[in-house]
Amino acid sequence: MSTPDLFDAEPSGSDDMGATSALANDSPAVVAHQLREQLHQHAHRYYVLDEPSIPDAEYDRLFQQLQALEAAHPELHTPDSPTQRVGGKPLSTFVAVRHGVPMLSIRTETDTEASGAESFDTRIRKELALDDQAPAVEYVAELKFDGLAISLRYERGVLVQAATRGDGESGEDVTQNIRTIGQIPLRLQVGAVSCPIPDVLEVRGEVYMRRDDFVALNERQRERIAGGARQEKTFVNPRNAAAGAVRQLDPAIAAQRPLSFFAYGVGWCDPVDALSVPTHWDLLMCLKGWGLPVCEHGSRVQGAQGLVGFHARMGALRDRLPFDIDGVVYKVDRLDWQQQLGFVTREPRWAVAHKYPAQEQMTTVQAIEVQVGRTGKLTPVAKLAPVFVGGVTVTNATLHNEDEATRKDVRVGDTVVVRRAGDVIPEVVSVVLELRPQGTQAFRMPHQCPICDSVAVREEGEADYRCTGGLFCSGQRKQSLLHFAQRRALDIEDLGEKLIDQLVDGGTVHTLPDLYRLGLTSLAQLDRMADKSAQNVLTSLERSKLTTLPRFLFGLGIRHVGEATAKDLARHFGGLDAIMDARLEQLLQVRDVGPVVAQSLRTFFDQPHNREVVEQLRACGVTWPEHEPSAQAQLPLAGRTYVLTGTLPTLSREQAQALLEAAGAKVAGSVSKKTHGVIAGADAGSKLEKALALGIPVLDEDGLRALVSAQDAGGVDNESA
Ligand code: IVH
Repeated sequence: MSTPDLFDAEPSGSDDMGATSALANDSPAVVAHQLREQLHQHAHRYYVLDEPSIPDAEYDRLFQQLQALEAAHPELHTPDSPTQRVGGKPLSTFVAVRHGVPMLSIRTETDTEASGAESFDTRIRKELALDDQAPAVEYVAELKFDGLAISLRYERGVLVQAATRGDGESGEDVTQNIRTIGQIPLRLQVGAVSCPIPDVLEVRGEVYMRRDDFVALNERQRERIAGGARQEKTFVNPRNAAAGAVRQLDPAIAAQRPLSFFAYGVGWCDPVDALSVPTHWDLLMCLKGWGLPVCEHGSRVQGAQGLVGFHARMGALRDRLPFDIDGVVYKVDRLDWQQQLGFVTREPRWAVAHKYPAQEQMTTVQAIEVQVGRTGKLTPVAKLAPVFVGGVTVTNATLHNEDEATRKDVRVGDTVVVRRAGDVIPEVVSVVLELRPQGTQAFRMPHQCPICDSVAVREEGEADYRCTGGLFCSGQRKQSLLHFAQRRALDIEDLGEKLIDQLVDGGTVHTLPDLYRLGLTSLAQLDRMADKSAQNVLTSLERSKLTTLPRFLFGLGIRHVGEATAKDLARHFGGLDAIMDARLEQLLQVRDVGPVVAQSLRTFFDQPHNREVVEQLRACGVTWPEHEPSAQAQLPLAGRTYVLTGTLPTLSREQAQALLEAAGAKVAGSVSKKTHGVIAGADAGSKLEKALALGIPVLDEDGLRALVSAQDAGGVDNESA
């Protein structure tokens, strides 16, 4: 039943993807066309197939070449140009869009057991009047993505409009924001012969946010809030974050929110018989052939048994998926049967959503404890009556900090809603106030460390109380050791929480280097530690000694230095000594390092005992390869981003860009808060307006020349935004 001609759809123009050199003699229109083709292909490989064939820098180069060409020849602009993903103006409101075919919802099967799938199959067989002898019905089983439904309208293969579901009949025009999603093709690829692209096509699918993108976004939001951006907020879950981004009036902000997309169906198409495939599965293959992302977990299955198997398989996979799902969807595969089955009110009879046990459950709070983190941060944690949620038994849920605990007003004895999705730490979402018993007491954050009794302080502008005990506090020491040993840092495999508790409590280990001084005898004396396990610990310690600079830096547990920052620092400086000795201004030149991170690094390495720890670790044999600092890092405008707009009196756009890049700056296509300056010439448009609105320095050609000829970073500091 498979349809290899659909599967094997080759993207068009894939043969000439690298052929930029042959462009020199062609007309600008031809060059622009070829560049767009190449960029479309590369974007598809990068965002949809996840297998880029060229480095990012090469993509940027092609992109900038096209941008320059379009700037010089405005008549060459097309709506499907990759340069048009970002750059729209903020809207004051969304315009209503009528869907060609209503966007339906799906009936939900609330029975989360296998029987839920069986009863759907029974109903379908009955409605199709199939007797017991008739073969199993074929279904397509898909994941039920937890995002928001979007309809994409393509006219002659070009994306012209994107709309939310709204009330099903009409939604909101969110085209500008949807364009910023790299996975959504601005132009469809020519697919297989059996799938010609209809003149008009509405693609239906789900916009969602991956869990890792969600966690990183919230981390960035927290950093922004810590840095004083009071209007920013963190998001409750990936779904809310995605919905907020899609309904964002300013496309520049939407572009910074990492969204993803899966296509799962087709709405209106013109001519109506343009899609002549017989099954839903074939339809999915057409979508895939046109370059749209179709989830790889979708599967064609037979009968009730096939549905039950899919439900079980995906249930087991659920936690390891990179995105949230709240169930699976079953669809009758044959399109003629779908038509025959028809609809009841707003729901098709041929589809059903089969849920999984919820990732939110109710339970009671038995106690509220305060835990101490490696930087001394005190975190209130609700101790819960064990509850099965999101596939595991949960007994703890974080209340984050004093303000969050106060806002949620969680009390011992309360009944609460707990949420756990994927690897995300379980959270108390809300209190069920109707069930609050009499005489409960509001939680008060202690002003003392629960472990070492040192004073805990909450500094001005900070959300957290911190224990001031430093290395004296065994709670902090244990967490620092765990952080250092974790897989993403030094990866000391056999060094777990229980062992660290014993080592610290027994006084064997005080600091990180003490780990490498452990011997077989001291280990083997510990509780439940046989010689063999002790030997395993020593082997993993020995193995951990050869590491990388980013892992080591991250493992030190410097506040605000996560894995990404550690990598950026290592790439920029090449070696640890250069980082330890870098001045604030030098640290600020590293990509994505702002004042908070830079100061935190300085504070850490200004402490003699921290340097001592580093020296001792090196003396114990911990080592990593180092390299020369990146050439880029030494340039005067390294780490700075500029935007060019309008026509300069003597320099062409390419020349201006080349000057900036030669001085180490990056040239971006749009203005944001992160832009360091805008170089504006005659007829500058919205970019100039935006720069002025954001208070970003604006320079003319002379200013640009002065900027790039400044010999040291000091010469440009006073123009920084
Ligand atoms: S098909 C006629 N397939 O679930 C059926 N919907 O209540 C139309 N959803 O908001 C939808 N994953 O956004 C379909 N694989 C999937 C889906 C899916 C998630 C959402 C959809 C809609 C809701 C339906």
